[in-house]
This record gives sequence, structure tokens and C-alpha cells, in this order.
Amino acid sequence: MSDRLSRRRFLGGAAGVAAVAGLHSQAGARAGYPPWKFVHVTDIHVGSPRSFRFAPAWNENWQTARAQIIGCAPDLLLAGGDLTRDGSMHTFELEAVKADFDALPFPVHVTPGNMDTGNKHTDRQGPRKDRDDLALNLTSAQLKQFESVFGPHCWSFVHKNVRFSSFCDMVAGSGLPEEAPFWAWLEAQAEAPRAEHHVWMMHSALFTERLDEPNYDITDPDQYLNWYFGLDEPHRGRIMEVLKAAGADLLLSGHVHCRKRHEAEGVRFHINPSTAFRQWGNHWPDGDDNLGFIEYTVTQHGIEERFVPLAAESAASGYGPGGHPKPEERDYSIAWEK
Ligand SMILES: [Fe+2]
Ligand SMILES: [Fe+2]
Repeated sequence: MSDRLSRRRFLGGAAGVAAVAGLHSQAGARAGYPPWKFVHVTDIHVGSPRSFRFAPAWNENWQTARAQIIGCAPDLLLAGGDLTRDGSMHTFELEAVKADFDALPFPVHVTPGNMDTGNKHTDRQGPRKDRDDLALNLTSAQLKQFESVFGPHCWSFVHKNVRFSSFCDMVAGSGLPEEAPFWAWLEAQAEAPRAEHHVWMMHSALFTERLDEPNYDITDPDQYLNWYFGLDEPHRGRIMEVLKAAGADLLLSGHVHCRKRHEAEGVRFHINPSTAFRQWGNHWPDGDDNLGFIEYTVTQHGIEERFVPLAAESAASGYGPGGHPKPEERDYSIAWEK
């Protein structure tokens, strides 16, 4: 057993109620940072009454979470995508969330979600008649729209003893002009100067059941959500190689709207909950679809997590269709604000 593995095992047993991701190194111990916090919130799905659909409960839930996050007093906030209800088609939704984030008393670092840009690419239609999967494929225009508001989708920086890195996973396998530069950026991260910990973010789960799971069949109703929530090979393996080469401790994602923990090849995978609505609560025996966010505390022993449940859930009702309605099904005449 390597020293790294033996220390991880020791800390896992000694941590008690707190899960510990990553380990402190000699260099980290010398750095001597007092414990500090960051928060990962995801799938807040803030919408607009100018849209063909609006769920005010999700906006109110975000305001509840927002106040709770301020109360946590983190050094920084990581927002894991699906910031908006329909930012993929409404720049004004992206701009409203950006303004909201800019008013927070700490910096916010964002990962794009499929509802902010577009979906994982497919060349086959899934079984659901209410969504045109091919039409939902991420486009260059959608990625540019997102970046015009939030900046480049690939980023990496060091804060104290942690490097944070993030990218738009829907670019992987898209064949878009942005894909080659994306892989070049990603694979260059293995050479980035090391910090004590390396925390990564993407919107989708890298995998849903296990790292070596098969590519799921989008046309099979029993496999559709596994296909939708995770990444396919060869992209999954290529990203995993980068994570290992870059010394990743922890990968944070959302998209599923259910809290679930995996570990594979020395990396912890945290699929984190939504603040807006629940999904897949019955899928994993140890999954938890309660709404909330995760507060992470970086200590000399590692990175500890605490699930913070939403303090109150709004019951406000709105209007319009769910899912991914086709353009002809979007009726803006019912919008509360014109
Ligand atoms: Fe979502
Ligand atoms: Fe999503």
C-alpha cells in the first residue's frame, strides 16, 4: 500500500461523521493555512417571468440557499451549472444570474450546465417523444453566448492551498470547433503547478454507476437517464487520465439533482444536490435527493464536507411546460412579464 493510500485510509476512519477528501502533504502542512471554507451549489435553475415558462419556487429556493451560503461565510462559491432555467436560449437569464452572483460578498466561479448552453451530443434520438434530442445538442453559438456573460468555460486557479479547475463537459465528443482547444487545455493541466489539493468541477457526472460502465443506449428507455447524466467513452477515460495526471482529489458535479458519492482510482466523485427540484431519488440505495448544497472545509487533515439542507422549500406555482419543449411549443404570450 502506498503512503498516500494508507494515510487516506487512516483519515477516513478517524474522520468520524465528516467525509475527508484528499490529504495534507508536507508542503501543505508548512503552508499552515487555518481551516477555510468553500461552497459548491448546483442546479439552481433560476428562471424568468419573461420566459414561456417560469417556476418561481426555484427562484425563491435559490434566494433561500443564497442567504444560507452567505451565512457559511465561504472564501468562494463554486456554481456547478444549470444556473438558469433556459439560459441556453435566453441571454437575459444568464445576465440576471451573473448580476445576482456579482452582488455576493465573495467571488463565484461557474461551470456551464446543459440548460445554460446545450446538451451532450447525440446522433440518435432518444425514446422520449417530448424532446428532440438531436436539436438539443450543444452549439458553438450557445457556448459563445454563455462565455459572453461568464467568461471562458475552461478555467483553473489556485486559492490558498487548493487548485480549482473546471470545464464544459458537453464539449467532449461534440465535434464542434471548440473541442480540440478544449482537449488541449485539459491535457495541459497535468503540467500546472501543484497545490496541496486539486478540486475539479464539471456539470455532468463522469459516470453514474462505475468508472468502467458501458456506454449507455440513448434509445433504450431503461438506459436513457444513465446516458443523459453521464459521459461516454472514450471521453470519460480521457478525462479520467487528466484527473489522475493532474493530481485530482475531488471532482464535483451536478446535473442529476441527487446527492451521491463514488470513489475510483484515488479520486472522490461528488454528485451534488440541486436547490431547485429533485430527480433520481429512488435510483441509488444511498442516493439522497433532498435539496441543498455542500459546504467544504479545508483543514490540515483534508477537505471535509457538510450537506446543508435548504432551510425552507417554496410552494409557489408558475406556468408553462417542463422538460425540453420544442420551439413551436414555446408560448411567450403567457409570460407574466412582456
Ligand atoms: Fe439541472
Ligand atoms: Fe443539467
